[in-house]
Amino acid sequence: MKNIILSPSILSANFSNLQEDVHVLEKSGAHWLHIDVMDGHFVPNITMGPFIVSHCKKITDLPLDVHLMIEKPELHIASFAKAGASWLTIHIESNPNVYRTLQTIRDMGVHPGIAVNPGTPIKHIENVLEVVDMVLVMTVNPGFSGQAHIATMVNKVRQAQQMIATIARPIRIQVDGGISKETLSPILEAGADTIVAASAIFSHPDGISAGVEAIRSCWQ
Ligand code: DX5
Ligand code: ZN
Repeated sequence: MKNIILSPSILSANFSNLQEDVHVLEKSGAHWLHIDVMDGHFVPNITMGPFIVSHCKKITDLPLDVHLMIEKPELHIASFAKAGASWLTIHIESNPNVYRTLQTIRDMGVHPGIAVNPGTPIKHIENVLEVVDMVLVMTVNPGFSGQAHIATMVNKVRQAQQMIATIARPIRIQVDGGISKETLSPILEAGADTIVAASAIFSHPDGISAGVEAIRSCWQ
């Protein structure tokens, strides 16, 4: 099995003491930090921008996995790269010039990722696979944490795995949305290797460490 990365989404963190939550994540064995950027246009919610990314960069050495749910992502790539993003994932639905934007992300020394909404067929990303390091299969409609997991997306993970097998280069498969101990196993079996979770970690009744441990127990 590939090495599995756990990337907790700070969308459900306690922002009045973000540093404390991030340090608990580090000590619990989280590998990356997933930062959900929403603009109120591509998705109905508004969340964080480069300022929060640069703040996270100051408080942790974990790689910052930035998920851009925004229109015209090309206007903001430089700001997020400068803020310290290690990964920048844009949506295939976000702009007609996605290929160029992915190249720009790499030119700035950041790993490019491409995300696919639940209603978008995986074949839409076929021609950008050659310029990405990660495919993000959304397992909820983007916009909010705490939504119900769409279990049928496991088929899309499998399709992504088959497409990636034709590329002579490692490309990660990330899943995001409603991931928990209860929903994760079939997705791992289908080939996902990079796991995002917000509410399953931050709303775990026994705390953040227990939330991380519960998810990690699916592959350890
Ligand atoms: C949803 C975001 C997710 C969200 C996941 O649009 O992209 O990263 O924070 O939250 P949960 O794990 O609660 O579904
Ligand atoms: Zn996300």
